[in-house]
Amino acid sequence: MSDLLIKDGYLVFPDFTIRTNVYSEDGVIKSIGSSVPRTADVVIDAFNKYVLPGAIDEHVHCRDPGMTYKEDFESCTKSAAAGGITTIFDMPNTLPPVDDAHNLKEKAKIIAEKAYVDFALYGVIHGSNIDKFEEMLQAGAIGFKIYLAHSTGNIKPPDDGVIVEALKKSVKMNVIIVFHAENDSIINFFSKKLKESGRKDPKAHMEARPALAEEDAIRKVSLFAERTGAVILIAHVSSAFGISALKEAKDRGAKVYGETCPHYLLLDESAYDKYGNMIKVNPPIRSAVDKEALWKGIENGTITSIGSDHAPHLLEEKSKDVWESASGIIGVQTILPLMLNEALKGKISINKAVSLLAENPAKLFGIYGKKGTISINADADFVLFDPSQTFKINEEQIFSKSKNSPFIGWELKGKIIGTILRGKKIYDGEKIIEKTGKQLKKF
Ligand code: DOR
Ligand code: ZN
Repeated sequence: MSDLLIKDGYLVFPDFTIRTNVYSEDGVIKSIGSSVPRTADVVIDAFNKYVLPGAIDEHVHCRDPGMTYKEDFESCTKSAAAGGITTIFDMPNTLPPVDDAHNLKEKAKIIAEKAYVDFALYGVIHGSNIDKFEEMLQAGAIGFKIYLAHSTGNIKPPDDGVIVEALKKSVKMNVIIVFHAENDSIINFFSKKLKESGRKDPKAHMEARPALAEEDAIRKVSLFAERTGAVILIAHVSSAFGISALKEAKDRGAKVYGETCPHYLLLDESAYDKYGNMIKVNPPIRSAVDKEALWKGIENGTITSIGSDHAPHLLEEKSKDVWESASGIIGVQTILPLMLNEALKGKISINKAVSLLAENPAKLFGIYGKKGTISINADADFVLFDPSQTFKINEEQIFSKSKNSPFIGWELKGKIIGTILRGKKIYDGEKIIEKTGKQLKKF
């Protein structure tokens, strides 16, 4: 048996923070409060430090297998560990795509030995694999992704009939479907038009993928979800119109949830002048009004989770013209520090940050209780966070192969001083210590 006692820290729960102790045995929390054992194999004095549940990043692209020149599962999960993320859900647009049980199992086999944090895998539903839905779940998928518009990997969007069928299956199997919600036809039309007009500036990408494309796609899949009773998550909501569409659907009773990402909350179109195509992402970073609408969405519960959409690319892939540059920025290492910085600045509470990055993703994907919470019988996954330090995001400390982050150089309040996965310290604030990640499955 190995046990761990974290003493005298500010334990952060979704609704309150309390200064107390937490004790775990063999990676599982056994007691919380003043009656914990007095000692343990490992004792951490967390006096004046925050102790948060290990964070979950429900939206990462680790690129393994198939695009390991951009990122591999080792660099990706080291980056996660250093960012206080103890569980990631990896997107299916790898090579080959995760579109049947065989590919899912092969991917799991390849990446399992490289995992520094716990992980789960998405399957994708495209135009020709709806018959593989059940086998992917049996093979361990945590949920499904459906792309309604083209993005990295060029996975063809399924037609509406297939989407409805997938939603019906998801109800039967009690699993969530995550949508990349943009109207592909609108995007294709305006991309062609702007390209032909000779536009080459980075903002042309933003105009080619207007908020209307997002709003329309959210309205469509929300209606499908409402009529089928399915639970869906809209990935990376980026616009005020997207928020309205989501909120209206929620108010009607549709089980539609919203995710946004730090880059939509912290940047707006004024950043294109400085970063150019480096911040080209799908959907695009938009106006300051959109940015504020997303914060409002967090406040009123329209947005319930934050994912990083960690999307590494080579520098040369990002250095082409606006139409040819790859879409995506990295983010798995900075998502939690950025959100905690906002919390220390007073934009949200630290408790809300814990809901967005631990409690809610765990609930949505059906792993709450084991993950996403500091409670008895949960995995002993923690982030130790010192609010009194400041921390500058610097390139040398980024573990991802890609350094393409607009947040490099940002000075943040607070610093992660340790990440603990199932009772073991995997990151000490400077270096990665231990590789002990395991796969989580829906069934
Ligand atoms: O910008 C993006 N990059 N958006 C996506 O939807 C996919 C991602 C990637 O995989 O590169
Ligand atoms: Zn993504």
